[in-house]
Amino acid sequence: MRLLYVIYRACVKHECGRGIRREPGNGKQSKPSILTGRCHFIINGKNVDGIFKNFIDKIEEAAAMIRINEHYLKLQASYLFSTIAKRISEFQTVHPEREIVRLGIGDATRALPESCITAFHAAVDEMAADATFRGYGPEQGYLFLRESIAENDFKNRGANITADEIFISDGAKCDTGNFQEILSTDITVAVPDPVYPVYVDTNVMAGRTGDFSGGRYQNIVYLECREDNGFIPSLPGKPVDLIYLCFPNNPTGATITRDQLALWVDFARKNKALILFDAAYEAFIRDDSLPHSIYEIPGAREVAVEFRSFSKTAGFTGTRCAFTVVPKDCMAFDGHGNRHALHALWNRRHSTKFNGVSYPVQRAAAAIYTIAGKRQVKEIIDSYMKNADLIRREMDGLGFSCVGGVNSPYIWINVRQDSWEFFDELLNKAGVVCTPGAGFGVCGDQYVRLSAFNSYANVEKAMGRFRNIY
Ligand code: MLT
Repeated sequence: MRLLYVIYRACVKHECGRGIRREPGNGKQSKPSILTGRCHFIINGKNVDGIFKNFIDKIEEAAAMIRINEHYLKLQASYLFSTIAKRISEFQTVHPEREIVRLGIGDATRALPESCITAFHAAVDEMAADATFRGYGPEQGYLFLRESIAENDFKNRGANITADEIFISDGAKCDTGNFQEILSTDITVAVPDPVYPVYVDTNVMAGRTGDFSGGRYQNIVYLECREDNGFIPSLPGKPVDLIYLCFPNNPTGATITRDQLALWVDFARKNKALILFDAAYEAFIRDDSLPHSIYEIPGAREVAVEFRSFSKTAGFTGTRCAFTVVPKDCMAFDGHGNRHALHALWNRRHSTKFNGVSYPVQRAAAAIYTIAGKRQVKEIIDSYMKNADLIRREMDGLGFSCVGGVNSPYIWINVRQDSWEFFDELLNKAGVVCTPGAGFGVCGDQYVRLSAFNSYANVEKAMGRFRNIY
């Protein structure tokens, strides 16, 4: 039956005239079919609907089935951080007595800043009275938060971004993953290697890649980041359409200078490409000469979308609040070369698929822009940076070369061995969790990432255990 169905589809699909030919019908047949149910079947000019109808109905019934997006089958079995969580949980099941220090996933460990908590509570109280209760908010986010962001994160740094170019969301992971949805599936995508896996996996899901082989997906342009280029990708040797950049970088912790970033903006402008710039870790920048936003680079408004997050800035990993900036003059093209504003497309997507971040959470997020909020955020980030500094010094002392940890909470360490083996060794011998570099790409093969998100006491403990083994 299945074979007959395939032959039948082939005949109809190609409208080859040798067998069954499809013609527009009167649209009155009610049964929806793969042929839309509105067809006549003609052989040699004769209408053979009667002969074929029952036969075709039976074939279609037998062949009807829900089908999957087969691009998902190209993905690796599970998402990197889910795989790691599973390994830790298996280890804990076998060794319930072992205390684990987690320097793997970059998850905040410090409580929300006091100003956020106060604003959060007050907003919850507003929801408790009919007079101040709020239902659906604007899908793009409340103006009080968008205006604070535009003023503090952009205008104060000389970047001309307005409140209506900012879309509040529940996470930079979701936004960096979802943004590709408004772009053609027929584009060339360039990603750094190592890379935050969300950029790649979401393009695999959308069908922009070929199969996975040798640690890489076909049809993706990988921009290698290694010690010899300071972990800053070089421009691709050929035009590409979509470029993912992340600075301060996850996973390497490397940072990009203004001049280096300007090369990418120029490249995108020359090639009519789009840069998706992930700046989720900008709050960790301590060097004043480094750009916090791509919009500090002239011309970037036309070719770049930027993603930010309150997760790492203010400990919102569990509370969920982030934002994406889509400047109104950022354009992409249709198949005829006509320009379209990405702002309008993203707004359409966002308002269709998202109903906004909750009011209390947005109030809590806005509190980081108050004087007290800024001071508290700085204190929290300083504490993580103190951890990063300790990790770097310890790794240097043990003879591991590393990058990051200066303007970033991540330290990327050359462990000179297979990174998953190192992960297992560190977990089993020391009870310390790292993130294996291979999970971020081929160039991460001999590296692991340590995260500074933990208490100083735990980081000291982890470093002591490192010293015992290496
Ligand atoms: C990381 O550890 O790379 C991130 O925190 C994971 C994430 O944000 O999805």
